[in-house]
Amino acid sequence: MKNITRDNLTDTVKSSFAQIDDERLRHLVNRLTHHLHAFAHETQLTHEEWREGIAFLHRAAEISSPSRSEFTLMSDVLGLSSLVDLLAARPGATEGSVLGPFHTRGSPWMDSGSSLIGANAGEAVLIRGQVTDVNGQPLREASLDFWQNADNGMYWQMDDSQPQDNLRCQIKVQADGRFELATIRPQPYLVPTDGPVGELLRVSHRDAWRPAHFHITVKAPGHRSLITEVFDESDPWLDKDAVFGVRASLVCHYQTESDPATAARMGLPAQYKAIDLPIRLAPQD
Ligand code: BEZ
Ligand code: FE
Repeated sequence: MKNITRDNLTDTVKSSFAQIDDERLRHLVNRLTHHLHAFAHETQLTHEEWREGIAFLHRAAEISSPSRSEFTLMSDVLGLSSLVDLLAARPGATEGSVLGPFHTRGSPWMDSGSSLIGANAGEAVLIRGQVTDVNGQPLREASLDFWQNADNGMYWQMDDSQPQDNLRCQIKVQADGRFELATIRPQPYLVPTDGPVGELLRVSHRDAWRPAHFHITVKAPGHRSLITEVFDESDPWLDKDAVFGVRASLVCHYQTESDPATAARMGLPAQYKAIDLPIRLAPQD
């Protein structure tokens, strides 16, 4: 009979996972056990606190659904999602940022030079970009998936007044890696606070705001896919993003422009904002 003690418990639990076949999974479970136990030792975790932690996770499960993951939100507000993004960074490549819960697969394909504005209210914005490798060579086979919220701060999934797939699209870049898209300026908005993550934010006196942003994912054969966001330098919430997604390199200047030919080609008003978006992808590891 093994006599389990405070001193041998952690190693005993680690050994119980030693037969996991997959080497990486074995390592992850071993280190998770190590750090969970270290946390309990360090904090001298009590039964009441342990029970409250389990109840918190139950509340997260109860409020989650196929279209809402409270666990992802928990990872976001704890900074874990951003840490995983930062660990995935590669020299010379555009920095990544949180995916968020509003990405849906299968957005409509549009040509570069299209407009998402349609019936949307808001300030017109021209996004001009080029996808290259880290040496500046254009990636002609790159494609983008783009999504953002509307002028009222809501994504189409949250708002019955918006048509399905409002303000989202996929684009293949042109032969020189460039793309253009007309859209509206996104707005700051609140992450959901009606679940246990909201409890955590309130007890911490933390804000639930995210600064306005576009979401973009970029793929190109032979290169690491990028999931990122583009922020607005004038946004008041840049320093207080509830999910820690802001990186200085992802903050854009919205320039006022009024080029008649561009306005006519892109279906923009005579005066519009423009942002330039160089996107650099790292080679596949
Ligand atoms: C978002 O950017 O849409 C988002 C990201 C994390 C949590 C909630 C929303
Ligand atoms: Fe978002």
